[in-house]
Amino acid sequence: MKHIFKKGTDETKPTLLLLHGTGGTEQDLLPVADMIDSSCSVLSVRGNVLENGMPRFFRRLQEGIFDIEDLIERTTELHQFLDEAAETYSFDRHNIVAVGYSNGANIAGSLLFHYENSLKGAALLHPMVPRRGVEVPKTDASIFIGAGTNDPICPASETEELSALLEKAGADVQVHWESFGHQLTRTEIEAAEKWYRSKF
Ligand code: MLT
Repeated sequence: MKHIFKKGTDETKPTLLLLHGTGGTEQDLLPVADMIDSSCSVLSVRGNVLENGMPRFFRRLQEGIFDIEDLIERTTELHQFLDEAAETYSFDRHNIVAVGYSNGANIAGSLLFHYENSLKGAALLHPMVPRRGVEVPKTDASIFIGAGTNDPICPASETEELSALLEKAGADVQVHWESFGHQLTRTEIEAAEKWYRSKF
């Protein structure tokens, strides 16, 4: 997968896995990673799917309706890419914290829904429930969810559903609410940074 890897100054820290939103690139969340922890290694990945020229991590049939077959396939592809990247760049595969926005948050959520121990933690910024009707594998991941009370793409009820599903699987979940729709805000990133500092 197209990506950027930046080696951090502190190898004991997690590697931050950056996953952009629809139409983004692997450059987008680099400043966010810097705000969260500038001493971490960073692996920033570009989604392999194009929707009208806009990169994404998996196909959708329409806004909010995911192509589940493609979601499963792309989740496996990303999971395997993380295994390979950990070898290539010599970082700890078991110490990855994802930072994903919107579509990137959804593929990070999908890693948690399909693989045990794929992520040590995740800051999911405006995520949806990636998939329904499956049992989420047991996890002890620490999860931050940044959500909007008035997010038209990820309704508050869906945030609560996601949080409950992850908690049921054993995750330690913290939800931070804003009221700026689907936007990623500075205060949300600051809250994610505070969460990160308290957990890692
Ligand atoms: C998705 O398709 O993953 C969500 O609707 C968020 C987005 O618009 O990318």
